[in-house]
Amino acid sequence: MSQLPPAIGELPPLIHASGPGGEASRALVDLLAAVECPGLTARRRRRAELTGASHDPIIWARAQGVNVVDVDGNRYVDMTGGFGVALLGHGHPEVVAAVQAQAGVMMHALGDVHPSAQKIELESRLAAMVPWSARVILGLSGADAIEAALKSAMLATKRGGVLAFEGSYHGLSYGALAACGYKFAFREPFAAQLNPAVRFAPYPAAGDVDRALAQVRAVLAAGHTGAVLIEPTLGRGGVEAAAPGALAAIGGLAREHGALLIVDEIYTGLGRTGPWLQSLAMGADPDVVVVGKALGGGLPVSAAIVREEAAAAWGASVGEAIHTSTFLGNPLACAAALASLGVLARPETVAMIDRCGAMLEQALRSRLQPTALGVRRLSFARMLVGVAIEGGLVRALGVCRRLLERGYIVLTGGVAGDVLTLTPPASLTGEQVAAFATTLAEVLAEVQAA
Ligand SMILES: Cc1ncc(COP(=O)(O)O)c(C=O)c1O
Repeated sequence: MSQLPPAIGELPPLIHASGPGGEASRALVDLLAAVECPGLTARRRRRAELTGASHDPIIWARAQGVNVVDVDGNRYVDMTGGFGVALLGHGHPEVVAAVQAQAGVMMHALGDVHPSAQKIELESRLAAMVPWSARVILGLSGADAIEAALKSAMLATKRGGVLAFEGSYHGLSYGALAACGYKFAFREPFAAQLNPAVRFAPYPAAGDVDRALAQVRAVLAAGHTGAVLIEPTLGRGGVEAAAPGALAAIGGLAREHGALLIVDEIYTGLGRTGPWLQSLAMGADPDVVVVGKALGGGLPVSAAIVREEAAAAWGASVGEAIHTSTFLGNPLACAAALASLGVLARPETVAMIDRCGAMLEQALRSRLQPTALGVRRLSFARMLVGVAIEGGLVRALGVCRRLLERGYIVLTGGVAGDVLTLTPPASLTGEQVAAFATTLAEVLAEVQAA
């Protein structure tokens, strides 16, 4: 595309005078509204009605490093890191090279029947990621791997009950959706098809631990629970960490009552929050660890890493696999994941994440005083950052739109939709971090004044 800059990756925003959503974007958004299932388009309309401003998407044309370029040639800094996937930046050269090399040789294999070497290598790598003997079930999405984890708990415990937590998000396929504590509205239309044996406890954030543990005890004592499913830090639910010791206590209770502890590290894992797996750093001893997002470096792949004893409940393969899919262990995705893990595990990457997270925290703390500028709370789990805004969803959406107009892609999260959730690539430079924090402070001041 001729209007695109020659190279992107670590450039500042560059937005045309007409702003985001130029002619080319508008034409594609109209087409989208005509062809896509209307759920998404309707939400945009509702947002426009709520805020009195356009919330049409920008249409991405290129993504490289921290930058995204839309079809009108506007250049953005992606503070979402593509829903947290691009921890290394979009299109990391080593991941791209691995995908290109693999694409030239083999793009698809027979997942559970005649698999590729890449699948076996990735599974070996993932099994070695936890401090216990493990077996691996690959998936294509985060939700997919959650389903595999829930099935493992069902087989290992013979109990269909699931204990999940308010505010938590595990994806929207049926098993995961039934355990979605993030928004009742997501579950409600499908309630008649969802597992009725799901119970919720308050998320055990600091201040709520006693209430949470009391409910966990009560639910487990009833005896039907086979799986306790928890995020070490709520991601989409508003960037709130479990209190020190809470995860370990919940795991202990689960074990006492014969249930498996499944930790959903899809957002938090593989370095985004600092440690390789946040739950282990928090002292938990899970039975299943679920990873996704950054795993594939941009290609869709996820995994449930299941303790050997629990995995044994699947029994030996005796014929047709009872859990598989056409694209299971897709060689392209596995090659991407192997390259991505290789880069993520390097000491210099770990140091980069640490440095970038510290810069982000310092820049935001210094520019956004929680009481001024309408900021209610700042929360930091290294490269998973929450900025809770006073004034609810409408004001948060307004902030996001203004940020987009200034060239920063930011999403809202939190149960009330009022938490700006920042999960950028860790390759952001100090200059970029400072520029973003300054812009955010300016936008918050504008919104306060409006
Ligand atoms: C913690 C967590 N679990 C599960 C999921 C679902 O992953 P996916 O959207 O890939 O199905 C997400 C997605 O945001 C997530 O944040």
